[in-house]
Amino acid sequence: MKRILYILLPIAVIMAACNEDPENLAVYDDTAYILDYGTFPPPNSQIANVLTAQKVALGRMLFYEVKLSSNLTQSCASCHRQEHAFTDTAQFSVGAEGDVGGRQAMAIFNMAWHNNGFFWDGRAPELHDQATQPIQNPVEMNETIPSVVAKLSADKSYTDQFIRAFGDDEITEERIGAALEQFMFTFISNNSKYDRFLAGSATLTPSEERGRQLFFAEYNEFFPNESGADCAHCHGGILFENDQYMNNGLDTEANFDDLGRFEETNDPMDRAKFKVTSLRNIEMTPPYMHDGRFTTLEEVVEHYNNGIEQSSTLDPALNATTATGLMLDAQEKEDLVAFLKTLTDDTFLTNAEFSSPY
Ligand code: HEC
Ligand code: HEC
Repeated sequence: MKRILYILLPIAVIMAACNEDPENLAVYDDTAYILDYGTFPPPNSQIANVLTAQKVALGRMLFYEVKLSSNLTQSCASCHRQEHAFTDTAQFSVGAEGDVGGRQAMAIFNMAWHNNGFFWDGRAPELHDQATQPIQNPVEMNETIPSVVAKLSADKSYTDQFIRAFGDDEITEERIGAALEQFMFTFISNNSKYDRFLAGSATLTPSEERGRQLFFAEYNEFFPNESGADCAHCHGGILFENDQYMNNGLDTEANFDDLGRFEETNDPMDRAKFKVTSLRNIEMTPPYMHDGRFTTLEEVVEHYNNGIEQSSTLDPALNATTATGLMLDAQEKEDLVAFLKTLTDDTFLTNAEFSSPY
């Protein structure tokens, strides 16, 4: 009998030790995450929050985590779907409790080049401030930070991942925001057909090429044949946005029902101004504008061609086109849309690193 005990005891000790598999022991790991931005200029946002592989991994878990919502039905990805460049196709997104918000969800990519605020009205100065707001928004995830912290603290996969990312298992709003920010900073979209055209490895069709020229050429009321659509005036540069808030003539003064940037700044010159969004992946992100009023790119082009409404805050460049409109004929409108579709980046839309880890 005694002999058997002598043999069994060490086995039991070894088995207990094996429960703490040393391979899975969570330890702090600050291995850097290197952003691969290819031909883009270096990011101009202050990534004070230095990217590490473990923080990015934690951000990915959180982005797809339904525990961030009050009733476990919704994650960030419910409204920000990868196949739609991380936006959704609803005019107004539906929150965890079935409430409908008043604005269209926004696409998320190339965020590391945004340094003038987030949301349609720019009310969140930094991405890590933005990231925890949807959790607490009653028409979005409708949850509280203490409750999220309690849910995550009870889950060993999270306490371990907070240790790997931050060195201990304390879960705070600041750390949740920092991890979500890091994951979103890794969303880089720079491999569209247009990028390959710039690199010399793809050719545009004649229609796409005519569209490209229209997109970048200035409007000229006196020479209709040479006049362009001047989209690059605002959606310019390699990012196809300008990090500004502008009024693109959607409504007359009397019909401003969302005051946009004004709600953040209280400056009357900001009434009905909204963030100039990137046109990359635009084919995949209908409906369009802050209120999702247009369902097709053809409707958007028709708006700029002949639908600009005047108001005191309308951008001067667009105001200058209102006498004649952009004078685009049917073929030119088609060409412009064909060019916009060359901005779709399938590599980004299907990149497994950005998909759900669950
Ligand atoms: C119920 C749908 C919904 C959920 C859930 C949701 N969002 Fe959003 N998101 C939106 C809408 C709508 C906007 C635009 C809101 C506005 O401007 O007022 C937006 C805007 C954003 C933006 C701004 C992008 C820019 O260019 O300024 C980011 C980033 C973002 N969301 C990230 C997140 C993260 C991170 C989560 C999860 C913690 C999340 N969202 C959860 C609907 C949602
Ligand atoms: C004066 C600046 C300006 C010019 C010029 C301009 N846009 Fe815009 N564009 C904006 C702003 C601002 C928004 C967002 C407006 C809103 O939602 O209230 C926008 C939104 C869009 C959207 C919808 C984006 C989304 O995420 O829903 C598309 C598509 C678009 N523009 C295409 C074009 C095209 C094509 C041209 C040229 C014919 C053009 N824009 C010219 C400022 C401009």
